[in-house]
Amino acid sequence: MLRASLGRLPTSRVPFSVRRYASSSLNSSYKVVVIGGGPGGLSVSSTLSAILGKNNVAVVEPSDVHYYQPLWTFVGGGLKSFDQSKRRMEDVMPKEVDWIQKAAAGFEPSSNVVILADGQKISYDYLVVAAGIQVNWDGVKGLKEALGKDCVTSNYSADSVQRTWEFINNFKGGNAIFTMPSTPIKCAGAPQKIMYLAEEQFRKNGVRDNAQVIYNTGIGKIFGIDKYASTLSQICQERGITVNTTTELTEIRADRREAVFKKTGPNGSEEQVYDYDFLHVAPPMGAPDFIKKSPIADKAGWVDVDAATLQHTKYNNIFSLGDCSSCPTGKTAAAITSESQVVKQNLLSLMAGKELVAKYDGYTSCPLVTGKNKLILAEFSGYTATPQETFPVNQSAERASMYHLTSHVLPELYWSGLLKGIWHGPGFFRNILNPN
Ligand SMILES: Cc1cc2nc3c(=O)[nH]c(=O)nc-3n(C[C@H](O)[C@H](O)[C@H](O)COP(=O)(O)OP(=O)(O)OC[C@H]3O[C@@H](n4cnc5c(N)ncnc54)[C@H](O)[C@@H]3O)c2cc1C
Ligand SMILES: *[C@@H]1O[C@H](CO)[C@@H](O)[C@H](O)[C@H]1NC(C)=O
Ligand SMILES: *[C@@H]1O[C@H](CO)[C@@H](O)[C@H](O)[C@H]1NC(C)=O
Ligand SMILES: *[C@@H]1O[C@H](CO)[C@@H](O)[C@H](O)[C@H]1NC(C)=O
Ligand SMILES: *[C@@H]1O[C@H](CO)[C@@H](O)[C@H](O)[C@H]1NC(C)=O
Ligand SMILES: *[C@@H]1O[C@H](CO)[C@@H](O)[C@H](O)[C@H]1NC(C)=O
Repeated sequence: MLRASLGRLPTSRVPFSVRRYASSSLNSSYKVVVIGGGPGGLSVSSTLSAILGKNNVAVVEPSDVHYYQPLWTFVGGGLKSFDQSKRRMEDVMPKEVDWIQKAAAGFEPSSNVVILADGQKISYDYLVVAAGIQVNWDGVKGLKEALGKDCVTSNYSADSVQRTWEFINNFKGGNAIFTMPSTPIKCAGAPQKIMYLAEEQFRKNGVRDNAQVIYNTGIGKIFGIDKYASTLSQICQERGITVNTTTELTEIRADRREAVFKKTGPNGSEEQVYDYDFLHVAPPMGAPDFIKKSPIADKAGWVDVDAATLQHTKYNNIFSLGDCSSCPTGKTAAAITSESQVVKQNLLSLMAGKELVAKYDGYTSCPLVTGKNKLILAEFSGYTATPQETFPVNQSAERASMYHLTSHVLPELYWSGLLKGIWHGPGFFRNILNPN
């Protein structure tokens, strides 16, 4: 139904010529400058460039490749190939934008200027910041050295995700440990999704009886929203998975295959050392350094925006969405479906001198894959910590239908809907299917 509503969407690559500027020939001033070519940056720039036309919208994005990161859980679980998560940036960049293939390094918001890594300055009338979250690989001692080798992997790295499935299949028993940090991270369900897929595979491979499957999380519960947390706890119990809360990974001693955990909270100093035979790490994350040290950041380093309008709290010509914004909700591509519509509407209203009426309600979603054909589709507002489900069924139950939705329909909505600026999330369907 979701698919049909969008009409026949192109699924193949459309080769169009993107004007790419890595040299000094680019214009130094744009009506709108967008930082980042992830789903946040592209969903907004595609619509704005279509409305404002050529020479008016620039996207600052250093990477040649765009990743559909939600697919990495399936890649790590051996269900999709890595290449399916990947497109050339020039194939997804909207054709009316000027792509500036450089990194942003700083902001001078009082003079409407972005400073690029090579020192060049670009000025703007309006700025949209969507640079994502920074993965702090240095936050765990020994992690960088251990990653991708000898049973240590992470679905949060494009390099190591491709070895995860191999490590899972080579696992012969012992401790399989999955970690989750106490920092905010993108898609907070991902660290446990890979665990459910791995545990299922251990059973298939006949090694489950010799294995301890352990989920050590730095936070106080298995999932932030109680409705889904209770099903997940039940699943862990049924499948014999040990869950330790407030238990954070601090060090990997790869030479001895030891992982060191620390209790967070009041008894913070308590340390516990585990031997591991497979270790999947969700590393600590935080705001990108170049934002953190700039005047547009809040105390924690995120772009300081109003949680409803997504407009900067001090500089009214700046907006932010996606993982780098200060919005207190789950950091997901699903959140961006709603946020992008709010940013676009409010930015166009601001240009027209009108009031900003679009408001983001904190909608986010986390498809919790619990097996090869099973999924709990958690949909909720991070602002109110209450479910916001699209479908008229109990979404905290494991369902094959939701698995197919996430595996087959959502990727298409991502490439052909969200990145093109024409998919704004399931709110419309939710109102029809599940009104309340
Ligand atoms: C393993 C995994 C599983 C996930 N599963 C799901 C899921 O099931 N559902 C879901 O909705 N979400 C999921 N997510 C989260 C989702 O991928 C992110 O929330 C989403 O990609 C955030 O989009 P963004 O545009 O804010 O940032 P990103 O997608 O990270 O894009 C940021 C862009 O900014 C660029 N950039 C960085 N620094 C600079 C700079 N200095 N200057 C200019 N550009 C810069 C980067 O190159 C990048 O292209 C998952 C993520 C991971 C890693
Ligand atoms: C710069 O902008 C002007 C119009 O504003 C346009 O004619 C010109 O082609 C642009 N140059 C580049 C390199 O984009
Ligand atoms: C996903 O996890 C698997 C193993 O758990 C790993 O091999 C793979 O590299 C991860 N994916 C990414 C993109 O990091
Ligand atoms: C994890 O839970 C197991 C089983 O309940 C317990 O034996 C172990 O001590 C816990 N570890 C930590 C670090 O809390
Ligand atoms: C924390 O430490 C206090 C004092 O040593 C102790 O009484 C309490 O049981 C500990 N709590 C946990 C969860 O270990
Ligand atoms: C929804 O499903 C979960 C998991 O099966 C179950 O524990 C819960 O009781 C169900 N809730 C309702 C309202 O049926």
